Amino acid sequence: MKPTLKTSSKVFVAPSLLSCDFSRVREEVGEVERGGCDILHIDIMDGHFVPNLTIGPVVVAWVRKCTKLPLDVHLMIDEPIRHLEAFRKAGADAITVHVEACQDVAKTLGEIKRLGAEVGISLRPKTPVEKIFPFLDGLDLVLVMTVEPGFGGQKFMPEMLEKVKNLRSRFKGKISVDGGIDPETAPRAIEAGANVLVAGTAIFGQRDRAKAIENLRKSR
Ligand code: DX5
Ligand code: ZN
Repeated sequence: MKPTLKTSSKVFVAPSLLSCDFSRVREEVGEVERGGCDILHIDIMDGHFVPNLTIGPVVVAWVRKCTKLPLDVHLMIDEPIRHLEAFRKAGADAITVHVEACQDVAKTLGEIKRLGAEVGISLRPKTPVEKIFPFLDGLDLVLVMTVEPGFGGQKFMPEMLEKVKNLRSRFKGKISVDGGIDPETAPRAIEAGANVLVAGTAIFGQRDRAKAIENLRKSR
């Protein structure tokens, strides 16, 4: 059964595939799945909305074949509406778009819903949290970037905790934090109201992934 907030108040751990060894992606995914993570976070970058480039729906479809974990696809791409169907068909269970990247945010979110995926929105560190208030009603997930999107291994920005707190006071769904999450920063994010921890380096940078997941989960 897929984890939902309605059935649990637990904290979800979502390894970010960006930091895995893609030459052995099946083993990497297997290790975190057996290690007890809840969700697999996949970062999609277009070299335009963010300076970096990563993968597209073809690779997501291959990852889909490697795991039963829910796939949480984080689209760091301009005008994501053009690609939603392809990512959904590739097996995305949740699709998150950036509020800064959409010409018509409401239409884009509506399209994610129509495709039957969980609906997520994300915002860059410089974007005021108020920008997403008009859309909160239709959302399953808000992904608060706690680093500038584009690369793994950056330093957590503590100023973003205010955004998380503010959001939690008006939003009951999932609040994810993404960027620089480790056993030191995770408890602060949870205290502020986050309940999904996205972590790349803190999981795939450790030899024992099960232990790394456990360390994040019990860090509060
Ligand atoms: C960054 C991505 C993150 C990234 C996090 O733009 O959205 O998901 O993989 O990596 P760490 O946990 O290493 O900061
Ligand atoms: Zn991400």
